[in-house]
Amino acid sequence: MRQNVRIAPSILSADFASLGEEVRRIDAAGADYIHVDVMDGHFVPNITIGPGVVKALRPHTKKTFDCHLMISPVDPFLQDFSDSGADIITAHPEAGAHLHRTIQEIKRLGKKAGVVLNPATHPSAVDYVIGDVDLILVMSVNPGFGGQKFIHSQLDKIRVLRQKIDATGRTIDLEVDGGINFETAPLAIAAGADVLVAGTATFTGGPSQYAANIARLRGQA
Ligand code: DX5
Ligand code: ZN
Repeated sequence: MRQNVRIAPSILSADFASLGEEVRRIDAAGADYIHVDVMDGHFVPNITIGPGVVKALRPHTKKTFDCHLMISPVDPFLQDFSDSGADIITAHPEAGAHLHRTIQEIKRLGKKAGVVLNPATHPSAVDYVIGDVDLILVMSVNPGFGGQKFIHSQLDKIRVLRQKIDATGRTIDLEVDGGINFETAPLAIAAGADVLVAGTATFTGGPSQYAANIARLRGQA
């Protein structure tokens, strides 16, 4: 079932020298989830945030921490991210040999589990785990960096996944990540997405603009 549109600012575009304050600002500005991009310089060509940073940020907000793990292997780090205060943990099928086991482990830790599909990954990758997941994340850029251009072919994948999710009768978030801005957000929503990750588009213009940016992405302004 399609839910209300929620916005998940990616702190990859925040000021890393004042991350706690940035998280408090986007919380106050109306963020629904706090999207944390975890990169290892191996699965993706960039290194970002580890569980220690997530733990340090946890006291700064009660909002949902949506931890997008772009690390391989992923299984050895699930416990650390769980302990650090993640609420949702998402993993790429390519980041381990046994996606089903990864999802079960995230759930065993008491967290919400999600699968992330790269631009070239077929939506059928979710078929035999859709009964177990809380979220499906469609990458509309190749993971690794903020500020990339939205890949329009992913709109078709969002539509396919909307149908698959609706057919389950379960509540599963359909999240889109990469190149979301005021032009592409309405396209992703129309295709069936209900959670939009936005790094550049949230933080553009500085703190005075965060609330307006988030409202506009949500379609409220
Ligand atoms: C890319 C990350 C995204 C990224 C989005 O690998 O998963 O979350 O930060 O950044 P924007 O919104 O700037 O495309
Ligand atoms: Zn992400």
